Amino acid sequence: MEFTFAQYQESADAIRARIGSFTPRIAMILGSGLGYLGDEVEDAVAVPYGEIPHFRASTAPGHKGQLVFGTLAGQRVAVMQGRMHHYEGYSYEEVSYAVRVLRLLGCCVLVVTNAAGCVNLGWKAGDLMLIADQVKIFMESPLRGPNLPEFGPRFPDSSHLYTPALQAVARQAAQALDIPLREGVYMYFPGPQYETPAEIRFARTAGADAVGMSTAPEVIAAAHCGMQVLGFTLLSNMAAGILPQPLTEQEVLDAGAAARDKFSRLVLECLRRMD
Ligand code: HPA
Repeated sequence: MEFTFAQYQESADAIRARIGSFTPRIAMILGSGLGYLGDEVEDAVAVPYGEIPHFRASTAPGHKGQLVFGTLAGQRVAVMQGRMHHYEGYSYEEVSYAVRVLRLLGCCVLVVTNAAGCVNLGWKAGDLMLIADQVKIFMESPLRGPNLPEFGPRFPDSSHLYTPALQAVARQAAQALDIPLREGVYMYFPGPQYETPAEIRFARTAGADAVGMSTAPEVIAAAHCGMQVLGFTLLSNMAAGILPQPLTEQEVLDAGAAARDKFSRLVLECLRRMD
């Protein structure tokens, strides 16, 4: 499936019909158990994915499946409550589809959050990590297929997928709130099975601090179309093979709930500090 530029425009037009002259500036993709921030949007207009042409449904647990437009921490935002994952059966193009639509609607910044396994042996479950860079070398790119030059170049530079100036904002926000913030590399695995202990040792050797099944495709698409990107990971569990017990989805959801307060305070403070 390859989408045409006209299809992206059609999706944007359908949303525009719902939000009128409101122009979102910051797109937010909120991961597992973290979608609650969308409920704090003021003057909110919610548009279910099912009512937007060419949008796919989000089937993962804890994902509502709607876009929420409005004001959050003084910023005009478009919050994705629920994202699409490759493991749900979607192509990477489908996974990152909404990012391009939000770009057409005016968003110039993407804030992404996710839950991931902690690979770094010096850190612990429950820690928050600022994403400094990512590794996504398996399977194809969301940019595979004919390039749509309306969005960006055929061979985009990836030296700074995560915008250095926004990383600086995050460090300052964390310091002001006295919230400890790790910094590291997020490595993408397609899932849905959690990684094996051997894969985690490989990830560590490859320079990863965290492993997860989302985010990397959307960030590639966002950077391609010129968006600035800020990413946070909740290290919801130690990655496979580090502790004796098996990994469960419940553990990931519980960690999301436990970190909810500090995570939302940090993200909101970053929004406040963005100019
Ligand atoms: N691996 C991959 N994805 C995840 C994990 C993990 O350990 N925890 C939460 N999402």
